[in-house]
Amino acid sequence: MLWIWIYFDKIFRGCMILELVTALKQIGETLTQGRQPFEVGHACNQPGPLHDMNLSKQDSDANSTVMCNCTLSNDGYCHITSLYLKWLSLPGKLPPEMAKLAYLEILDLSRNYISGNIPEEWASMKHLTKLFLTSNRLSGNIPGYLGRFRSLTNLSLEANQFSGTIPSQLGDLVNLTFLVLSSNQLEGTLPKTLAKLNLTHFRASDNNLSGRIPDFIGKYWRNLVRLRITDMSGPESNLSTIPPRVNYLFVNCPVLRNINLTGVIPTDVWTTDSLKMLDLTFNKMEGRIPQDAKTREFMFLSGNKLNGSVPDSFFKTDKKMYVSEMYHSDVSYNNFSLPPSCQDHQGSKHVQEFIHQE
Ligand SMILES: *[C@@H]1O[C@H](CO)[C@@H](O)[C@H](O)[C@H]1NC(C)=O
Ligand SMILES: *[C@@H]1O[C@H](CO)[C@@H](O)[C@H](O)[C@H]1NC(C)=O
Ligand SMILES: *[C@@H]1O[C@H](CO)[C@@H](O)[C@H](O)[C@H]1NC(C)=O
Ligand SMILES: *[C@@H]1O[C@H](CO)[C@@H](O)[C@H](O)[C@H]1NC(C)=O
Ligand SMILES: *[C@@H]1O[C@H](CO)[C@@H](O)[C@H](O)[C@H]1NC(C)=O
Ligand SMILES: *[C@@H]1O[C@H](CO)[C@@H](O)[C@H](O)[C@H]1NC(C)=O
Ligand SMILES: *[C@@H]1O[C@H](CO)[C@@H](O)[C@H](O)[C@H]1NC(C)=O
Ligand SMILES: *[C@@H]1O[C@H](CO)[C@@H](O)[C@H](O)[C@H]1NC(C)=O
Ligand SMILES: *[C@@H]1O[C@H](CO)[C@@H](O)[C@H](O)[C@H]1NC(C)=O
Ligand SMILES: *[C@@H]1O[C@H](CO)[C@@H](O)[C@H](O)[C@H]1NC(C)=O
Ligand SMILES: *[C@@H]1O[C@H](CO)[C@@H](O)[C@H](O)[C@H]1NC(C)=O
Repeated sequence: MLWIWIYFDKIFRGCMILELVTALKQIGETLTQGRQPFEVGHACNQPGPLHDMNLSKQDSDANSTVMCNCTLSNDGYCHITSLYLKWLSLPGKLPPEMAKLAYLEILDLSRNYISGNIPEEWASMKHLTKLFLTSNRLSGNIPGYLGRFRSLTNLSLEANQFSGTIPSQLGDLVNLTFLVLSSNQLEGTLPKTLAKLNLTHFRASDNNLSGRIPDFIGKYWRNLVRLRITDMSGPESNLSTIPPRVNYLFVNCPVLRNINLTGVIPTDVWTTDSLKMLDLTFNKMEGRIPQDAKTREFMFLSGNKLNGSVPDSFFKTDKKMYVSEMYHSDVSYNNFSLPPSCQDHQGSKHVQEFIHQE
């Protein structure tokens, strides 16, 4: 039985506008579907510091934290700037009244069972920079009006049930740097308008997307540090000719799995120091891996058309390393010719040192 209390401190009643106290009550009821006793008194008991609302502690990862700032505006009132209600099994909907928290900067409702869609009213929150709705049951199309959430820098809709196409309006989010749309049921192509953004983190894996990997990723997202695009059907893209040639491969941990990539892995990839992980599983990459290739912590090249021989360094494990530092590589299902000592009992040419399960 879910038993949630939001019990804001009541001692300092009077420091928050009454209208907000009422809005908070409504927010509580909508998030819990009115199923639980949900008492909202006062969210800000003192200026500034984190205030743990001590919601349900059934899950050790549960986090119900509210952060206030009482000197933010000149009206003498305290305003909520951050609201974390995570891992709380909240069963309700996203409350339109959230928009009354006009100074809200961070809203994190990850890992609940919230259904429905994102209220259009939220577009009025002029300070909302971080919106995390990861792992819920939100469904329907990703609304185009999200493009009016202009202050957003970070947006995660990961692991929901959003369907339809990615709205072109997301390209209007001028300050967006972090966009995560993975693990939904999105289809269609990545909209060209995303070229207007300057993303550092982008994940669109595990959907039903189609089309080519867009040129703009290499051309415009020059500060990219994380990239994950997987399972995208569509015409081949030749990695050797995507401009600028190797840009994607030098982001920290690129995952470009099963997206119909062809061409040769640029030689610089084997020599650079910066790359920790490379995942090009299930593409049509060809060519050889140089014998002096640097080993990466994670190197997944399974299911391609690479040939030549696998460098010795891929088989070695430094015994002095801790487990967490071990190199994991999977180069199975390619077209390598192997020295007999490396072939398994069936004489198969597959090399499978370690299969990384995500
Ligand atoms: C509250 O907001 C003011 C004005 O933006 C800022 O100077 C101050 O650092 C904030 N206080 C806290 C605790 O965040
Ligand atoms: C939250 O719980 C902790 C420990 O259980 C307690 O010390 C603290 O006073 C509680 N905070 C509130 C606001 O109830
Ligand atoms: C809840 O999350 C906030 C922001 O990440 C963090 O500062 C705080 O320590 C967390 N509280 C708990 C109880 O985990
Ligand atoms: C974008 O970020 C800049 C710098 O932080 C800020 O001045 C500007 O107001 C932001 N734009 C919007 C629409 O929030
Ligand atoms: C927000 O995005 C930035 C990249 O622009 C990233 O470094 C940061 O970790 C993100 N914040 C959170 C809380 O995910
Ligand atoms: C993109 O963002 C980075 C910081 O992440 C910044 O240094 C760079 O100037 C931005 N580029 C453009 C074209 O806005
Ligand atoms: C994926 O999209 C294709 C059309 O592009 C459609 O035929 C197929 O049913 C979709 N698959 C799923 C699992 O939604
Ligand atoms: C990959 O590209 C080829 C050639 O453009 C095409 O025939 C094939 O259907 C594509 N595969 C997928 C899974 O989209
Ligand atoms: C990819 O592009 C390179 C450089 O233009 C070319 O040599 C190679 O044949 C192309 N590979 C495929 C499969 O199209
Ligand atoms: C390796 O593959 C390339 C093209 O993918 C081909 O030209 C070359 O002959 C192959 N080498 C071997 C030893 O099979
Ligand atoms: C694998 O390499 C052999 C020659 O070593 C060649 O005959 C064969 O066509 C190649 N297979 C693929 C799928 O490239």
